[in-house]
Amino acid sequence: MFSSAKDSSELATAQHIKALIKSHYEDEGERFTTLALQMAAHEAKLGHTTLADEIRKLIDKSKTKVRRLKPFSQDLDGLVLEIHTQDKLADLIISKHLKERISRVLKEFKQRDKLQKHGLENRRKVLLTGPPGTGKTMTASIIAKELHLPLYVILMDKMVTKFMGETSAKLRMVFDTITERRGVYLFDEFDAIGGERGKENDVGEMRRVLNSFLQFIERDDSDSIIVAATNNLKLLDQALFRRFDDVLHYHLPTKDEIKQLFENRLAGFRGNFSLEDGIVSAEGLSHAEISQACLDAIKESILNDKKKVTKPLLTKVIKDRVCAYENE
Ligand SMILES: Nc1ncnc2c1ncn2[C@@H]1O[C@H](COP(=O)(O)OP(=O)(O)OP(=O)(O)O)[C@@H](O)[C@H]1O
Ligand SMILES: [Mg+2]
Repeated sequence: MFSSAKDSSELATAQHIKALIKSHYEDEGERFTTLALQMAAHEAKLGHTTLADEIRKLIDKSKTKVRRLKPFSQDLDGLVLEIHTQDKLADLIISKHLKERISRVLKEFKQRDKLQKHGLENRRKVLLTGPPGTGKTMTASIIAKELHLPLYVILMDKMVTKFMGETSAKLRMVFDTITERRGVYLFDEFDAIGGERGKENDVGEMRRVLNSFLQFIERDDSDSIIVAATNNLKLLDQALFRRFDDVLHYHLPTKDEIKQLFENRLAGFRGNFSLEDGIVSAEGLSHAEISQACLDAIKESILNDKKKVTKPLLTKVIKDRVCAYENE
């Protein structure tokens, strides 16, 4: 058993060396870096942390001296966005259980060296599901902010609709970038490719895309964090779940969470009234809609030269949101 593990690791190294040589002669600078980083990750996994660090240092040194990494390849223009936010974990109103699981991702990333020394990997692949406006994108941005990493959003729906037939090639470029640049990568509107294999009309393409995504995510041993977000859990193929370290389900806010949202969002603008009625009428709205309603109320107060949001005003803006929802 041990010798076969050794054989397979030697095989992986041999393949890496061959691919490195090939990319050198074909002058594929970016690919060379990706492969070298993969080798470092591979060695780290085998417990050869000193060698892994040395390889990474060599890459970093040559990168700053010889050439800087290109910005995103033009081929990914419009498909990947870099997003900056100021949200903190404390701003995210979700169940204690969910918060603990997000904190665990942060903790494992911060102490990944400690884990690697024991041959263990930090959790880096997270699937977020839940209705619109419940904090999925916000979670990805908070993970990035807390870990001081850039957040890149990959627009899956655009990739699939605009590049039918080429999506797998685009995905490959994205995964190469994931290895080259440490960051948090959010695959948003993930259902664009996540549909159960075989159920789409254009079965062939969707199946190919999903299969390549599964392979890429499985093979990925970068230092980046991958977050996939979807509104539609039912559409997702079971095969996807196994590829993620965590699957987190988001929900519309509970009564307690609605109250917390009001308190946070109105903060200094809240008049002296009980929030109980507002909570009842806001049930069924998402976090995003409630936050938006609070903003509406604050703006309205400012425009009317009022210092505080009154209870009738809050009731009105909530009602407006509920009506908009019902008319849909
Ligand atoms: N759980 C939450 N706690 C606090 N604020 C929230 C929460 N969820 C959403 N918000 C507010 O609503 C905004 C939009 O939320 P977000 O983009 O994270 O929703 P989402 O779940 O990604 O929705 P979609 O499925 O439509 O992409 C956030 O920027 C934030 O202001
Ligand atoms: Mg979102």
